[in-house]
Amino acid sequence: MPPSPLEEDIFPSTPGKIKIERTHHYTMNRSFHRCFTSTTTMFLWALLLIALTASYLSIQSFVDTGTRFLHHPIPRDHVIIGGPHWEKKIRASAQVHRVHGLSVLVTGAAGFVGSHVALALKKRGDGVVGLDNFNDYYDPSLKHARRALLDGHNIFVVEGDINDKRILVKLFDVVPFTHVMHLAAQAGVRYAIENPHSYVHSNIAGLVKLLEQCKSADPQPAVVWASSSSVYGLNDKAPFSESDRTDRPASLYAATKKAGEAITHSYNHIYGLAITGLRFFTVYGPWGRPDMAYFSFTQNIRKGKRITIYRGKNGVDLARDFTYIDDIVKGCVAALDTSGKSTGSGGKKKGAAPYRIYNLGNTQPVTVPTMVSILEKYLKKKAKKHVVTMLGNGDVPFTHANISLARRELGYNPTTDLPTGLRKFVKWYESYYVEDHGKPVKY
Ligand SMILES: NC(=O)c1ccc[n+]([C@@H]2O[C@H](COP(=O)([O-])OP(=O)(O)OC[C@H]3O[C@@H](n4cnc5c(N)ncnc54)[C@H](O)[C@@H]3O)[C@@H](O)[C@H]2O)c1
Ligand SMILES: *[C@@H]1O[C@H](CO)[C@@H](O)[C@H](O)[C@H]1NC(C)=O
Repeated sequence: MPPSPLEEDIFPSTPGKIKIERTHHYTMNRSFHRCFTSTTTMFLWALLLIALTASYLSIQSFVDTGTRFLHHPIPRDHVIIGGPHWEKKIRASAQVHRVHGLSVLVTGAAGFVGSHVALALKKRGDGVVGLDNFNDYYDPSLKHARRALLDGHNIFVVEGDINDKRILVKLFDVVPFTHVMHLAAQAGVRYAIENPHSYVHSNIAGLVKLLEQCKSADPQPAVVWASSSSVYGLNDKAPFSESDRTDRPASLYAATKKAGEAITHSYNHIYGLAITGLRFFTVYGPWGRPDMAYFSFTQNIRKGKRITIYRGKNGVDLARDFTYIDDIVKGCVAALDTSGKSTGSGGKKKGAAPYRIYNLGNTQPVTVPTMVSILEKYLKKKAKKHVVTMLGNGDVPFTHANISLARRELGYNPTTDLPTGLRKFVKWYESYYVEDHGKPVKY
């Protein structure tokens, strides 16, 4: 239907908005013409239209804030939640298949660590439901491939944002989760320079939304979540112990993780939520994250492309306490098993609940050039190295975990060294990507 001239006259200067509202106002035109008898009536109608438009715009901007900081926000009407079919899938996924099994909501389940943890829990008979917004911080096809893998093990991953209260309420309506394994986050250190708001959106606002849901749930779940070794920031006392200072973050990412530790503490204190924060140290392995150095180095060495190796100020090599994914998964599962119980209900605390923080590292830092030489060996190809001195982009010079607390209290015991872990990574990489095409071959 062509727009009536009248409509154009009413909204001459806001073409974008007219598009959205066109049908709405067009249906009003008939009654508009009927009542159009005097200038007074027209004036009143104009006032009404302005009021309607204003309220529509304010609702729109409110709705938008939830997804604004995503790269490609999921169109709201594509998130089909609720309904008997959806609920049936959620229930089947959350089905517990062992005595005293857990019922776990895994956020970030299409992510690297989340997909591995979800599988490990499911394999031992726990109920698992995933939640992930599939954002395109890195190639979403890898996230969809991980989802397909989980799907094959009867784990349902809901596509949605942790900021979406509707979804959280609905999930807890259907399943009385005993635990939340919170791994959804904006990861990566350098990307904060480009998109700082994505860190606030997921790591701060999203965390609070999730904790709000957990505190009001009845029963309240215990929460285990991923902090990061990056909270140690400019700390140079090695190894890093949980009691070391964490008040000098070197990146916005680190600052949001540190904020997460403070925020979870307040929910523990006020509402009696059982909280465990895990400070992961550079996790790597099959199904890993393409934005991480070991992964992009593998891609580029294979293609014969130059790799950039950062070095510290005085020509000192950067070193990382690389931790293999299977070791991290064992730490996560042990944290869930020992989490203790939340004490509150209906938003009220009934007693003190545990608040714990653990390092999950490997305690064997390896320099980046050594990591590269291990990759060269497995890829049977020399890297074209471009070494540059770090310009304070958020990376810290080295990380080294003291894991004695996790050993003692979680029975955490990492067993995979970097050469062994990278061998497994390269094997996965070569089976997943077609040579030279960079496209996935199989799930
Ligand atoms: N991999 C590491 O080396 C490492 C180190 C320290 C801490 N961590 C932390 O561990 C957790 C898991 O990291 P990972 O390496 O698996 O990263 P990842 O990016 O592969 O996984 C995170 C997942 O969360 C999802 N997500 C992000 N924001 C979301 C939101 N607002 N709503 C719903 N889903 C959202 C993403 O789509 C992604 O699939 C993160 O909290 C990360 O900060 C990881
Ligand atoms: C490691 O941490 C423990 C506390 O968990 C502490 O007692 C010990 O001294 C630390 N070790 C080192 C070498 O810093």
